[in-house]
Amino acid sequence: MTTTDHSQMMKQWQFTKSGSPRDVLTMVEVPIPTTCADDEVLVQISHVSLNSAFAHRLIAYYGVFDPVGAFMGRPGVPEKDFSGIICDLRGANVTEFNIGDRVFGIGPTSFREIAQGVLCEYALVKRDHIVKVPDNISLKDAACFPITGFTAYCFLVEKAKLKKGDKVFINGGSGAVGVMAVQLARTIVGPTGLVVATCSPMKNDIVRNLGADEIIDYTSHVLPDFLREHYGSRPFDVIFDTVGSDHALYSNSPNYLTPSGSTVWLVTKRILQLLSAMVVPVYLGGVPRRHIFESLTPTSSRMVAMAKLVEEGSMKAVIDSTYKFTDVLDAYDRMMSRKVTGKVVIEVNDLDR
Ligand SMILES: NC(=O)c1ccc[n+]([C@@H]2O[C@H](COP(=O)([O-])OP(=O)(O)OC[C@H]3O[C@@H](n4cnc5c(N)ncnc54)[C@H](OP(=O)(O)O)[C@@H]3O)[C@@H](O)[C@H]2O)c1
Repeated sequence: MTTTDHSQMMKQWQFTKSGSPRDVLTMVEVPIPTTCADDEVLVQISHVSLNSAFAHRLIAYYGVFDPVGAFMGRPGVPEKDFSGIICDLRGANVTEFNIGDRVFGIGPTSFREIAQGVLCEYALVKRDHIVKVPDNISLKDAACFPITGFTAYCFLVEKAKLKKGDKVFINGGSGAVGVMAVQLARTIVGPTGLVVATCSPMKNDIVRNLGADEIIDYTSHVLPDFLREHYGSRPFDVIFDTVGSDHALYSNSPNYLTPSGSTVWLVTKRILQLLSAMVVPVYLGGVPRRHIFESLTPTSSRMVAMAKLVEEGSMKAVIDSTYKFTDVLDAYDRMMSRKVTGKVVIEVNDLDR
């Protein structure tokens, strides 16, 4: 553990109770952290990008996700995705980074730290959760990738083993994870493969320009029926679901997914159906298709692999809008408007300049 003696203050957005961001978030002054565990670095934050899960789940239901913290009135700090510059207090075990390195990464992910985020001017972060920003990428763009690019990489490449020539279906192609998944899938499957994605009609052109060959308007079709009708004769190798609202997408998947294919679920709103899908064997009526649903841990090697794809241009930042650090409440209003495509970015202290 390293300790530095300074008493400077920083600004931080906090919440201590459940509610909508506009009702519960406040900006306060707190001391810049002065201790650093051996596997941590202190980062001066340049940009933070918002994740819908924070507004819709963690802040909205703080008492459910962190009952002890909420009961004790321990302040939560929103968001996990950041870019910035390593500025101080390197832990003794950190040898792969130096003060002044431009980095991007993911804030604390342990269950105990679920409500500890990075919407502040300085943050302590684990060395395994960060990676150097490629020279050809700005800090603003870099803040868009940590969770979304990492998620698309881990599930499509590591877990589903998507490959050249494959056919892939991405449900929610206009969301923050979806825009990364569409781009990465396009790169991996190449011109002989097929990328099909859903989105609402006004986002059709954006998703097509990111690399989707075919777009499905989810607002005017019953998805499992549409997929059976149009893709039953050319079934997918991978289904990547970022929406999780319709278990029928999985239970009907034998109609449009190859027998060796995989479905990836990032989220489910039908947890009991999901659990039964995972445990019921095929001979008892289970769905005869592979099913991937898990929480991923950031590691150095995964972060490096994600950063390489970013450097090569396999995933580009899709920025919906940018807000000043003082305008975070407006940024959350925008993110919750459902008009967003890609990322809402907060300029905490633009260190690109
Ligand atoms: N398991 C993990 O490791 C992991 C990691 C990251 C994220 N997640 C989860 O993944 C989910 C997606 O995250 P995100 O940040 O990409 O969310 P997001 O930016 O809010 O995007 C949500 C997407 O869902 C689409 N959508 C909404 N209702 C739909 C429906 N009925 N059918 C088809 N599409 C629909 C929206 O399309 P339109 O905007 O076009 O209407 C939008 O593209 C979140 O629940 C998040 O918590 C999980």
